[in-house]
Amino acid sequence: MKFFIDTANLDQIREANDLGILDGVTTNPSLMAKEGITGEAAIMKHYETICSIVNGDISAEVVSVKFDDIIAEGKKLAAIHPNIVVKVPMIKDGVKAIKWFTDNGIPTNCTLCFSAGQAILAAKAGARYISPFIGRIDDSGWEGVQLIEQIVNIYAIQGYETQVLAASIRNSNHIIQCAEVGAHVITSPLEPILGLLTMVLPPTVHCASLPDKLYWLLKPVPNISHHSLVV
Ligand code: E4P
Repeated sequence: MKFFIDTANLDQIREANDLGILDGVTTNPSLMAKEGITGEAAIMKHYETICSIVNGDISAEVVSVKFDDIIAEGKKLAAIHPNIVVKVPMIKDGVKAIKWFTDNGIPTNCTLCFSAGQAILAAKAGARYISPFIGRIDDSGWEGVQLIEQIVNIYAIQGYETQVLAASIRNSNHIIQCAEVGAHVITSPLEPILGLLTMVLPPTVHCASLPDKLYWLLKPVPNISHHSLVV
């Protein structure tokens, strides 16, 4: 499973990249705005900088919603660097644009996916990635990871090459659950990624399989450092 970081913050991108486990970056207009990056020139420059830090797929999102505008904007983004993947929303004109980009050799990440049907359309259009938003699905009362599993299964049965990129990750457990159901990629803020270093699964799930001594060391401490593990 590939690890992408979901941020436009350069310090966090560098920190994740320095870990040696980073495969790419995703951003979106709100993440850019959060870093104070506004206006076309500044946004283009920021993508260029991200591409100079990370050697992997860098998703750059279009803000247009009409076919011709999406194509014009996507072409500009793709021209920044060969590693740019144009991020296109799951709307009717978006699907048409993904097909156009596919036919013209420009890789895409279809974003804002909330159903298996949308994921099938994105795969048919030739998207390199489909991004189901698991955190937001959880917020609505469903189980986001179940959608990841469903899409992974459909793609395997149908032989689609589109990769399932689990987005809207909210915690470290989301990352583990995505790995369990076969997501090809996760994109996560830095904190859940770093949380994998120290998180402890609920004792009710795993205490039976832990040696007694280790279990009692882990139980009272919700967030342990490696020092606590010395037995
Ligand atoms: C993915 O590429 C998106 O940028 C991101 O995961 C959005 O998630 P959120 O807005 O629900 O945090």
